[in-house]
Amino acid sequence: MKSKFDFVSSELEQIKKNNLYRKLRRGIVTGSKITIEGKNLVNLCSNDYLGIPTTSLKVKQLQSSSRLVSGNDKSYHILEKKLARHKSQQASLIYPTGYMANLGAISAIAKKEDLILSDELNHASIIESCKLSGAKISIYKHNDMNDLQQKLKQKSKNKFVITEGIFSMDGDFSKLKEIAEISQKTNSITILDDAHGDFVVGNDGKGTANHLRVSKKIDVYISSLSKGLGSFGGYIASQKDVIDLNINKSKSFIYTSALPSFLVEYSLKRFDFNREKQQKKLQSNKELISKGLREIGYTINSQTHIIPIIIGDEKTAMDFGKYLFQNGVHAQPIRYPTVPKNKARIRLSVTSWLSQKDIEDCLKVFDLAYKKFMKF
Ligand SMILES: Cc1ncc(COP(=O)(O)O)c(C=O)c1O
Repeated sequence: MKSKFDFVSSELEQIKKNNLYRKLRRGIVTGSKITIEGKNLVNLCSNDYLGIPTTSLKVKQLQSSSRLVSGNDKSYHILEKKLARHKSQQASLIYPTGYMANLGAISAIAKKEDLILSDELNHASIIESCKLSGAKISIYKHNDMNDLQQKLKQKSKNKFVITEGIFSMDGDFSKLKEIAEISQKTNSITILDDAHGDFVVGNDGKGTANHLRVSKKIDVYISSLSKGLGSFGGYIASQKDVIDLNINKSKSFIYTSALPSFLVEYSLKRFDFNREKQQKKLQSNKELISKGLREIGYTINSQTHIIPIIIGDEKTAMDFGKYLFQNGVHAQPIRYPTVPKNKARIRLSVTSWLSQKDIEDCLKVFDLAYKKFMKF
């Protein structure tokens, strides 16, 4: 008999046929290791880059309402003050996730008559937020300043340039210095999503703009509390009026429950923790892995803790990932639509959790995998 959802089944079939099927697997993460389907693996897929030691929490209240209604306790204000200072901005605003911060902030600030210039490799949450704003969207080639300048010549009321700080799937830095200069010359507003650089790079973990010495030229910061800080949530930081407009207009801020305040307190504890030791360890782990992979023969262009190994076709990337899994390494293959078709890759995210032995064990497996999959 024909089912109402036959179209869903055939879409799933198509996804499977294209080697793009995803399924959930149960995993238990313990520091540098993850157990999946009873197998203990070195975890090269964690965004908890720094591995700040876990702190205990007193859970007073799980949930109340949205922040504008009754979910706004003191911890929010303390953390928002600290986050504003962290970004040298007048104010900040916490959202339930980084995804929601992007979704809400960009669509609240940009309007139909405006123009948004967005790097072609920007994260899905940026892409969706640009669409939501109704503004004209112009995608410029990845980190291509000539293309950006050319596209900025279009007429519009306000112009925005939005980029990631460290690109989530390629691990390269954005050309933030050049972008900020071009923005300044064209009177455009620079928005930086620094989900992967925040708390990790820059002086005292202040992020990519600080690392590239352009902090003062960024107009709006958007970030996550769930990666370098290893907590949960998202935030924006900017001038007071921009924050005020978001409190009044940003739908993913207004029409959703507040992040439970125990999570805000968790972020506060992690924020106040001296993260220097973890930052140094992450740096040396990243160098150890990149050097080891290059010695094996892999082409590694990334200078950061996000290291992609570009494979190409989706099937080989899946087989590569399976081989790593069978040999004790968890490093997830990344496929379309997260990255372009035929640019599938194994994405390693390095953390300070990893010991020298973890890294050596992984490199042995990557050596075998290189001989099996990369030597044609
Ligand atoms: C560049 C970028 N922005 C935003 C997000 C969303 O952050 P969150 O996980 O806090 O929702 C991600 C998540 O991976 C990301 O890579």
